[in-house]
Amino acid sequence: MAKKKLVRYEEIHNFPNVIFTQIVDAQTRSVDRKWSEHTFEKDQETVVEIGCGRGEYCIDLARRNPHKNYVGIDLKSDRLFIGAQKAMEEGLTNVMFVRIRVEYLVPFLEEQSLSEAWITFPDPYNRKESGRKRLTAGSFLDVYKKIVKPGALLHLKTDDPTLYEFSLESLAERGAKILFHTDDLYSATKELGDATAVQTTYEKRYIKEGRRIKYIRFTLS
Ligand SMILES: C[S@@+](CC[C@H](N)C(=O)[O-])C[C@H]1O[C@@H](n2cnc3c(N)ncnc32)[C@H](O)[C@@H]1O
Repeated sequence: MAKKKLVRYEEIHNFPNVIFTQIVDAQTRSVDRKWSEHTFEKDQETVVEIGCGRGEYCIDLARRNPHKNYVGIDLKSDRLFIGAQKAMEEGLTNVMFVRIRVEYLVPFLEEQSLSEAWITFPDPYNRKESGRKRLTAGSFLDVYKKIVKPGALLHLKTDDPTLYEFSLESLAERGAKILFHTDDLYSATKELGDATAVQTTYEKRYIKEGRRIKYIRFTLS
């Protein structure tokens, strides 16, 4: 591991706004920590960002919506480090981070505990055999269905046309209710709230390059 990554890997264990999980049993997909170990300053609804990377999206959501709590999850601790440090510098108490794979969320989180979910610019994994790794593949949708409350809104944003089409098919296969979708988010006339109001560095770059942002709003039950 590069030195900077190694330092971050060590330091993140001491961050008060990060839960760092380790796998206990790969078969049962259980980890050594529990979500219930953490309490937010305010007891209010909790929203998850799946694959949050450096946490830019959920930090901005947390700034805009102090009446909600946010949890960003990602498997890469060096990326989470940047988000968690920023949140601490800003004194944001309604956002925290968990280092965990999506695959392990079900035993970690209480079922039906989250009120909304954002899947922001997931890796497209466009090699044929990698489709199952896409964060909108059926097995991941099954995880989200368990952790969100019935009727909770889920949002997907992507710049990747293949991932967008794949996600529409995958959602249809799982019987999801697609409430709105567009292959050109910023041309849509509908008021889309945080979907258009929040942009990460990467999203701004994609827009500058002329790439169209795609968006799907859906429920899983
Ligand atoms: C392309 S990045 C996008 C990061 C961020 N959402 C953004 O818009 O800047 C995708 C992120 O998903 C994370 N990821 C991919 N597969 C994952 C999995 N199975 N469990 C948890 N995180 C995952 C990666 O580590 C990466 O940080």
